[in-house]
Amino acid sequence: MGWQITSQSNPRYDSMQGIQSVFEPRSIQADAILALSNWVFAAGSLIFVLVMALLAWAIISRRRHPPLRNTVFIAIGGFAFPAVTLSILMVFTVLVSLHITSPAGENAVRIHVTGHMWWWEVQYEGPDGERIETANELHLPIDRPVSITVTSEDVIHSFWIPSLAGKVDMIPGHVNEITFTPTEAGVMRGQCAEYCGLQHAKMAFYVVVEPAEQFDQWLEEQAQPAVEPVPDLLKAGQQAFVDQGCGSCHAVRGLPGAVGQIGPDLTHVGSRLSIGAGWLDGSVGNLAGWIASSQHIKPGNRMPSFDRLDGKTLRALAAWLESLE
Ligand code: CUA
Repeated sequence: MGWQITSQSNPRYDSMQGIQSVFEPRSIQADAILALSNWVFAAGSLIFVLVMALLAWAIISRRRHPPLRNTVFIAIGGFAFPAVTLSILMVFTVLVSLHITSPAGENAVRIHVTGHMWWWEVQYEGPDGERIETANELHLPIDRPVSITVTSEDVIHSFWIPSLAGKVDMIPGHVNEITFTPTEAGVMRGQCAEYCGLQHAKMAFYVVVEPAEQFDQWLEEQAQPAVEPVPDLLKAGQQAFVDQGCGSCHAVRGLPGAVGQIGPDLTHVGSRLSIGAGWLDGSVGNLAGWIASSQHIKPGNRMPSFDRLDGKTLRALAAWLESLE
């Protein structure tokens, strides 16, 4: 599929191997979850093999043993053994659960994510408690706890970054929290993990884990209003955005009238790795394609295809959006 992001299409996606895999944990919590899974899997496999072996043995050697020996055998194999192994696994599970759900603490990065059909509204808490809005992409600093509270605007979604944490349900009218501490820089991918309608599969996002200074700089940039266009092409693009009424669905901070809340905040859309919630690489060509044909690319999403724009206007509009870094 030409639309999917591949390492060939954009150098920014190099080394994206395993970016969405529970087998490549990149946080303290994901490490713990993988270790627990491995232990449960190993113990389960061992017990399965043991039971199958006993079954085979029972079939081959039945009637050779007196009833008393069978009673002792049932007491050990049917009661004591499962009680001990399940208790060990339960203690292990409870310890891991406590570990991965411990509060993130005072210095945590605080983020609020709201699920929409089919995109992610993201609000960072700034240094003074102010909300800094973005969409469909998270940036996180390494080695600092992160607290993400999640909810939903419409149906139940599930917020899941396999390399960083377990799944957490996004439920309308209810706030859930997930905490974790990333331990490795890189680009990871998150995916909605609860069927939420036609475009559930195309409800994804990227997570960029980076050194603290880079993260601070990114957050500072995200807090700024959109840059004023200088070249004529970009000015024409901004004018097209206003003329087409895009601002009634999308916010662009700093542009009068662009305060819509129905679609993603586009103030810094040009800085994002993807558009369409993790679906298309955020290039100027894809932006133009999305505007003209969003119902073809992601049928059923709330944005109509603006397929009647002339080529010049479309190019200018896409170029302006891409310039919003
Ligand atoms: Cu949102 Cu599945």
